[in-house]
Formats: sequence, structure tokens, C-alpha cells
Amino acid sequence: MTAAATRKLFIKTYGCQMNAYDSARMADVLAPLGYAPCDSADGADMVILNTCHIREKAAEKMFSELGRLVPLKARKARAGGQMILAVAGCVAQAEGAEILARAPQVDIVLGPQTYHRLPELVARASRAAGAVLDTEFPAEPKFDTLPETVRTPGVSAFLTIQEGCDKFCTFCVVPYTRGAEFSRPGADVVAEARRLVALGAAEITLLGQNVNAYHGEAPDGGSWGLGALVRALACIEGLHRIRYTTSHPRDVDEALVAAHAEVPQLMPFLHLPVQSGSDRVLAAMNRRHRADDYRATIDRLRRARPDLALSSDFIVGFPGETDEDFDATLALVREIGFAQAFSFKYSRRPGTPAAAMAGQVPDAVKTERLAALQALLRDGQLRFNRSMVGRVLPVLFEKRGRHFGQLVGRSPYLQPVHAAAPSDLVGRIVPVEIAGVEPNSLAGVVAPMGTA
Ligand code: SAH
Ligand code: SF4
Ligand code: F3S
Repeated sequence: MTAAATRKLFIKTYGCQMNAYDSARMADVLAPLGYAPCDSADGADMVILNTCHIREKAAEKMFSELGRLVPLKARKARAGGQMILAVAGCVAQAEGAEILARAPQVDIVLGPQTYHRLPELVARASRAAGAVLDTEFPAEPKFDTLPETVRTPGVSAFLTIQEGCDKFCTFCVVPYTRGAEFSRPGADVVAEARRLVALGAAEITLLGQNVNAYHGEAPDGGSWGLGALVRALACIEGLHRIRYTTSHPRDVDEALVAAHAEVPQLMPFLHLPVQSGSDRVLAAMNRRHRADDYRATIDRLRRARPDLALSSDFIVGFPGETDEDFDATLALVREIGFAQAFSFKYSRRPGTPAAAMAGQVPDAVKTERLAALQALLRDGQLRFNRSMVGRVLPVLFEKRGRHFGQLVGRSPYLQPVHAAAPSDLVGRIVPVEIAGVEPNSLAGVVAPMGTA
């Protein structure tokens, strides 16, 4: 039994879905100490900023948030209380000492691999023994020592199966902030998935910085790739939808392609970042595949699952990127036809090889290229969404919508869909006839059961 929740915990999460998962696990680990999540930093007994270091802007956001928290912390102290201020996540890992130097009000700095030590760090911080910094990659893996899930996951849950990255793309901080690649044993993943389903999840998204490099220990002592893991999870009754993110094009093996063809629970949507359509840029990025390898991978996947919708990440203005290189990216986008995508200006990250490369691209050029790419991607997204109008899609309703009497859910292709529907349909997969397209979602009408 956990202690009565007497302390308020506010967690603000930046960055990727793995941080969102970690934030939930930090709340789990603090629950026995009497901390219960609240939705404002004002008056909280503990505030955790779970930070992202991927681009410069992401890291700067954290420092401006810290600036806003300092007066709240002072007010709490004047009222006779204590607000423990913790910085977690990838900025903590990369810049731990600088954070403490720049923001002495911070009590705890902890990296992504030490969340299971939070209770001990909190105890040390509340004894006011000065700031504590824990950004090791400890010998005991965090997953072995974190408590079981106590939160209610909702209809759609995240589950981290793999962490870290050994790929060392020249622009990226992840191998430095999250460390070497590590896969959780298959039996642990299946057990956590069963718990999430028992708590009400109908969909699980498997998470990893390099999720399809997954190679966890199999229950029989061998090894499971992602394809085998997906098949094992598909046996869980009540788990209707399986997704995974983020994948690397190099790690799409035959077993995974076959899972897309044969496992109906595996949803026909794949986020497979390509970054650039130019072989020269891909080589400089150390992506270790060419544009044609990406095309061939997409062909294999589409043969297995013809309705597969694709998403990607792109970086424009990587050092040395010429107009021709950029045109190759636009050409690839036109050819593949992405259902959605994320695109970024190259951001120079200290300590990564690309930061020191010659041929840094002026910001004005990056801005121009980003606008051109985003216009093209938006067209593609709109075309894809419009192709749904008139179709009946199975929608998993997740929660109430913005308007009264409305629910929002997701199509198999991850599009948000809203429709007028009673709230007892939350958690159910319901046929919805798509009637209209809005900028980032679809609008529909619930259709008779059995029509999707
Ligand atoms: N593991 C994933 C990506 C993780 S980071 C993969 O391999 O694709 C998410 C995205 O942020 C990346 O795909 C990339 O497009 C972008 N990104 C990473 N570092 C960046 C940088 N220095 N500047 C701009 N975008 C970056
Ligand atoms: Fe970063 Fe590349 Fe690893 Fe993705 S594969 S996390 S972009 S180093
Ligand atoms: Fe950001 Fe770290 Fe995720 S840098 S994208 S929070 S792995």
C-alpha cells in the first residue's frame, strides 16, 4: 500500500515519447513517498523538468522554464514549505554541471538512467545538503529496479522496450545522452504489456530511440527481434493495436516486414525517418544507407502491407547541403508520398561531429528550405487525409473531444478522428465514416457496427 498522497508533484515533459514514458515512471517511483501528480507548478512540493537536448531550442526552453519556477520556489519557502526542483532527462545528462552553475536553485539533476534512484535523491535534497547530481550510467539497469506500473495508462499506452543508440549519426546527441543500446528482456516487456492491458489499454506503442534494433532475450534463452516481440504481444487478449517508434531504416529486417503482413494488430503506420534524400548528405550524416536503400525498404514494406502509411523526419541545412542535395530530398518526398512528417532546421549540437564540419549553412537558407519542404509535406498530408473521405475506418476512441458529446480517437493510420459518440465508446474500436478533413484531423460519423 502506498502512503497517503500528501505532497504535490508537478512534472513537465519535453522531447520525445520516451521522456513521456519516463515521466510516468518517475511518478510511479515517487508515489510510495506520498507524491501525487498535480497539474501546476504553483504550490507544488516537487517540480521535475524532464528535458530534451535534441535541438538548441529544446534545451533553451528548459532554462526559460527554470526562470519562471524560481519565484514560485521562493514563494513556497516564504510560506514555510519546500519546493524540490529537479532537472531530469537529456539536458541533465549532457549539461548537468552547467545547470547547477547557471541555476543554483536546482536541487537535483538526474540523467535518464538513474530515475530508480529518485527516492534516495529526494531524501538527500530534502535534508538540504546542497544540490545532488546523478548522471551516471549505473550498473543496475533502471528497468530492473523501477516499481511496477501504478498509473492508469489510458486507452493508448506507451511501453519502452529499448533505450540508447549505437548509430552515432553525426548530428545527434542521443548516443551521448542515452548511452549504448540496450533491449529489455522479452518476458519483461510482455509482462508489462499484460499489466497495461489489464489496466485498460487497448493499444500499446513500443518505444525506443532505435526501436527496431530491438534484440531482447527471449523466454527460451534465445533472442527476439522486434518482429518476434510483436507476434508475442499479439497473443495478449484485449490488446487490439500495436505500434512502434522510432525506427531506423537500416534495421527493417525480414521478420519485421513479415509481421506487417501477418499480424493484424500491428497497425499500418510506420514512422521511418530518412533525414535527407541526398546520398552525399546521408553519408556525411553517417546514416549508413542511401536514398535507394530507403526506397527499396519502403517497397518491401508496401508489398507486405499495401495500405501502409508512412511518416518521416527530415533535417534541412545539414553542413555542406547544396541546392541539389535539397532537391533530392524534395524528389524523395514526392516519390514516397508521406502521410505526415516532421522537419527541422539542422541545429548545431556541441560535441557532435557535424557541429565541427565545414560548410555550415546560413540560417536564411535553412529557413527557406524548411518552408519549401514543409509546404510539400503539408500537401502530401492533406492529399492523404482527403483520400479517407467517404471511407469507413475503424477508430479507437481515446477520450472526450473539445465539443460536447464528441469523442476523439485514432484511425489505423494514426490520424486523429473526432465524431459525435457516447462516452461509453471510449476504449472501443468503432467504425466511423469519414466526412471531412481539418488541418490536423478527420471528422466523421459513427457507422453501423461491422462496417469498417
Ligand atoms: N532515433 C531516431 C531519431 C531521434 S531524434 C532516428 O534515428 O531517426 C528525432 C529527430 O530529431 C531526428 O530524426 C532528426 O530529424 C531530428 N534531429 C536530431 N538531431 C538534430 C539536430 N542536431 N538538428 C536538427 N534536427 C535534429
Ligand atoms: Fe540519433 Fe541516429 Fe541514433 Fe537516431 S539513429 S537516435 S538520429 S544517432
Ligand atoms: Fe530529446 Fe532525449 Fe528524446 S534528447 S528527443 S528527450 S532521447
